[in-house]
Amino acid sequence: MNMIHNLRRASRVAALMARNGPAPVRMARTAIREHGAMQRTWELASLISRVAELRPGVVVEIGTHRGGTLRCWAATAAADALLVSIDLPNPAEGMGTRPDDLLAVRRALQPAQTLAEVTGDSHLPETRDRLVEILAGQSVDFLWIDGDHSEAGVRQDWALYSGLVRPGGIAALHDIHPNPELPGNQVQPLWRELKRRHPGKTAQFIDQDQAGGRGCGIGVVRL
Ligand SMILES: C[S@@+](CC[C@H](N)C(=O)[O-])C[C@H]1O[C@@H](n2cnc3c(N)ncnc32)[C@H](O)[C@@H]1O
Repeated sequence: MNMIHNLRRASRVAALMARNGPAPVRMARTAIREHGAMQRTWELASLISRVAELRPGVVVEIGTHRGGTLRCWAATAAADALLVSIDLPNPAEGMGTRPDDLLAVRRALQPAQTLAEVTGDSHLPETRDRLVEILAGQSVDFLWIDGDHSEAGVRQDWALYSGLVRPGGIAALHDIHPNPELPGNQVQPLWRELKRRHPGKTAQFIDQDQAGGRGCGIGVVRL
């Protein structure tokens, strides 16, 4: 079973590289291996390809941790993009962005890009208010939701932030696939609902879709 899964994974990566060139896969591998992205290569590379097509001018990321995915958005966004990171540090569990993480992302930005950080719970109205202030009237082109993975938490993020995405922009969620080892990850009910609510406007990338597969998965909605 493992061998079949490995072959399918290799063929997905090869197909993505044939379609979009090697850059998204390379970028995803570097983000995971060197910059602490908590992602699977093919899934992240598939999303990077979508974001690169969109070339967003305004990116909002909920859940930055070491900055692995944020670097990918900076590398694929417009040369003068505004990137906003929202993160709630949780040092007791070794989670959350540290000042050094954002410093390193800042160094990796393209010269005319700007990074704004909001440290706080994404569920609080003041966090959203701070974001709206930073956006100064701009709408969001790409929203990445990878913060609190509880069902109530991810629903709250969707309710508070998806409305800031412009029509034609994209919102993506991480961990749409169940993981028996992480029962607290409960993004699937919202993802099922979004697929019903946005027919023909969603895509999903799930690497571990075999029986007994272990979670992750990225869902994308074009708004
Ligand atoms: C899975 S990690 C993000 C990984 C990152 N996107 C990557 O792959 O490079 C989740 C992050 O969300 C943060 N987080 C959890 N709950 C949050 C909340 N309510 N508001 C903001 N950030 C939150 C955690 O501290 C952690 O840094």
